[in-house]
Amino acid sequence: MEFGYKIKNEWLLDDEVTFLNHGSFGATPLKVLQAKEEIERRLEREPLSFFADEFPVLLKESISRLAKFVNANEENLVLVENATTGINTILRSLEKELKPGDEIITPNHVYPGIRNTMKFIAERTGAKAIEFDIPFPVIDNDKIVEIITQQINSKTKIIILDHIASPTALIFPIEGIIRICKSKGIITIIDGAHAPGMLELNLESLGADFYTGNCHKWMFTPKGCALLWVSKEWQNRINPLAISLFHGNGFQEEFAWTGTKNPSPWFSLSPAIDFYNSLGFEKLREYNHKLICDATDLICRELNVTEHAKYDMLGFMSSIELPIKITIDEKTTMELRNHFMKEYRIELPFHTLNNKVFFRISAQVYNEIDDYKRLVSALKDFISKIK
Ligand SMILES: Cc1ncc(COP(=O)(O)O)c(C=O)c1O
Repeated sequence: MEFGYKIKNEWLLDDEVTFLNHGSFGATPLKVLQAKEEIERRLEREPLSFFADEFPVLLKESISRLAKFVNANEENLVLVENATTGINTILRSLEKELKPGDEIITPNHVYPGIRNTMKFIAERTGAKAIEFDIPFPVIDNDKIVEIITQQINSKTKIIILDHIASPTALIFPIEGIIRICKSKGIITIIDGAHAPGMLELNLESLGADFYTGNCHKWMFTPKGCALLWVSKEWQNRINPLAISLFHGNGFQEEFAWTGTKNPSPWFSLSPAIDFYNSLGFEKLREYNHKLICDATDLICRELNVTEHAKYDMLGFMSSIELPIKITIDEKTTMELRNHFMKEYRIELPFHTLNNKVFFRISAQVYNEIDDYKRLVSALKDFISKIK
């Protein structure tokens, strides 16, 4: 299959919009949406039989397909709605492990929602939620490992690490960090919200205590499908946020049923993986990564700004500093997004880090370099009007 604009009609994406934000919510291919609809129809035809007979079979099948995709043992994997639920599930279950003064640490590249979860847990337990700086631009992976190692002390109880950070798009060298943290008895939680479908995962060999990741971003499932991997030693101490019918029946059974919901995003895993495989993992990764590197080169050259990360620290996203001085408040990033959409029909997310504004570009198989050339023109126009 040829990538670029020729393939864009596999999605419902608006032709009038230059869509450079696959990262925020993904985009589900039409074929996968149709499969999801078919599952919903099956459910509505005979709801009782569906939940009693088909549900367990479809759930097992979906977990089995996903397990192969992320190299996990099926029995260590459950499905949740999103990475937010995954992290909340883990931290709420770990509350009983925390005592006043314990530290939960994370780099300052953390996703704002997870920052709030950490603070919430800290308030309930008396533990401290601590964010530490990872400079951006970063020097290299060794420096990241060194900074994180320096943060660890006898009070550090939990580390939350993004596999791929939201505001900076950096791929964190989690393998080395997990190894060091484990050797010091620190509980390791990996927020892999962006990782499934972008990185080749091997959840079993990572050695983390917990890993959660979205399938609805880069794996092409409909929204509401995410994985939660829990190491064997923690499985009997982890419960879903909603306790329901199968409480006490063991890790996978408890998570299988957390009350009635529409399970069609979960059961679209097989069609989503089929679609993904039809594009070819290697081909997709090569295309998206090359496109993000070329696009970053182009934008940095044209705007006369420097890259903030080496290309081997990036996957299919890249964050670039907006080269203007503006006053930042909590509305800034949304106002900038709205402005680029309204004025230029470009869908682009903005983030702030250390009082600087960054825009984040994504590359997906339906994008071409011309999308980023349009962005360069828009950015030049925008900057000239601000100055
Ligand atoms: C690193 C990170 N964690 C968590 C989330 C939250 O994902 P969701 O809204 O699917 O729960 C995001 C969303 O972009 C993210 O980038």
